[in-house]
Amino acid sequence: MSEPRVERIRFNGRVAWRKRYGAPERRVRLAALRWLARRLGASALIAPPPQDPEQACRTEREMIARLDGLGVRVPEVLAAEPTELVLSDLGPTLAIRCKNEPDPERRASLIRSGFAALRELHARGGYLSQAFARNMVITPEGVGFIDLEEDPRTTMSLPAAQARDVLLYVQSTARFLADRPERYAELLQTQVATESPGVREEISRVARRLRWLAPLAALGGERGRALAQALRALASVGAVVLWLLLLGEQADDVGVALIDLMF
Ligand SMILES: Nc1ncnc2c1ncn2[C@@H]1O[C@H](COP(=O)(O)OP(=O)(O)O)[C@@H](O)[C@H]1O
Ligand SMILES: [Mg+2]
Repeated sequence: MSEPRVERIRFNGRVAWRKRYGAPERRVRLAALRWLARRLGASALIAPPPQDPEQACRTEREMIARLDGLGVRVPEVLAAEPTELVLSDLGPTLAIRCKNEPDPERRASLIRSGFAALRELHARGGYLSQAFARNMVITPEGVGFIDLEEDPRTTMSLPAAQARDVLLYVQSTARFLADRPERYAELLQTQVATESPGVREEISRVARRLRWLAPLAALGGERGRALAQALRALASVGAVVLWLLLLGEQADDVGVALIDLMF
């Protein structure tokens, strides 16, 4: 059997994670998704192109250094080789914490902490690789970010990369409040309202472009239902986004937004 890609180890007496960067997988699927996102005009969802192992390892180190410079919680690089890193442990992921939390209000509170951490990150000019709940950690010290081997800024603007963070976060967390959709929509609205106008515009564009997917996604098993949940939450903030656009500097786009909403 091949060695695991990410492995929990002990390093100098501490818990740590050894991450090995291998050849990119699923190139065809990735190319298909990139094509689809481009066709839909959802630039924030166009995944960065695949990298070779050295590039991926270098990108993760660079992203960690950049985020560390912004004062954001990221792992410490304990050891480095061209295609391997040993990273300090940041604690349990947000996905695990949400899965193990039976109380919906406490789950909402965990999700709100994640949104708040993204807001703070964005206010400092930062962005992530893949802001899924499984790539964020949460402990009493706060929220931290892991899995930083992609740099979306190589293919998109800063507002698009920050919108991508919110969209991927929604895609991975809406399922945890499937029994409280109005509570989730409330959290998302607060988030959208506090992002910059450019980010709001990107989010609303993608939400509009993907609206038709929700009923189809709902048919497609557990992952499909999670996606449908996320898309419905996004659709419910559509009106708020439009209202914010009216107030914001993006007034020129309002006509386009209205036409898009009607069809
Ligand atoms: N520094 C870390 N602190 C805590 N957990 C980690 C850390 N690095 C990796 N993990 C765990 O390993 C999993 C996989 O690591 P990740 O960097 O996300 O690689 P992958 O690209 O395989 O998703 C994470 O979802 C998390 O559970
Ligand atoms: Mg990951």
